[in-house]
Amino acid sequence: MLRLQSATSPAWLEKVRAHLPDVLIDHAHCEKKAAGTAMNLIFAHVDRPDVVRDLADIVVEELEHFRLVLDLIERRGITFRRQRPSSYGQRLHALARTLEPGRTIDRLLIAALIEARSCERFAVLRDGIGDAELAAFYGSLFESEARHHATYVQLATRFRPEEEVRRRLDELAAEEARIIAAGDEPARMHS
Ligand SMILES: [Fe+2]
Ligand SMILES: [Fe+2]
Repeated sequence: MLRLQSATSPAWLEKVRAHLPDVLIDHAHCEKKAAGTAMNLIFAHVDRPDVVRDLADIVVEELEHFRLVLDLIERRGITFRRQRPSSYGQRLHALARTLEPGRTIDRLLIAALIEARSCERFAVLRDGIGDAELAAFYGSLFESEARHHATYVQLATRFRPEEEVRRRLDELAAEEARIIAAGDEPARMHS
């Protein structure tokens, strides 16, 4: 369903356990960034009311997630702060083609893959973090990130034929799996 081409390794969960505050702060940044991505796509497609409505729903949900993570880290006595972003998003965005309509398709599909990886990792956290509050929290976010993944793929098919979108999604998913496998970051949601 998520169209990812690799599963998160158990080593990632160990890294999260060892650096939980850093990962929670990173998670807050990811939600903020997810809202920003959808907002930027609204700016790029103001002439497509059918597209901006779905994107607006994503902005609202991602900002709500951002607030929820901020509340969670505050309850745990962790202060939200700036963080050097992981190279994951940057490396994925570098794969986007520069000419239209390829650029639009790639931006949407890269967003779809980031949502898919978040979703997959939320399930890993839900099932393995061994902290009841966090397990419930990640369980509650899982479903909406899965929906965002599906929405972004669906949005891409409003610009190009489905077969072409599927083919490109598979190519980008293969690259995403390589980027995640090379993850050299200390401890991030996507590393
Ligand atoms: Fe989210
Ligand atoms: Fe999302």
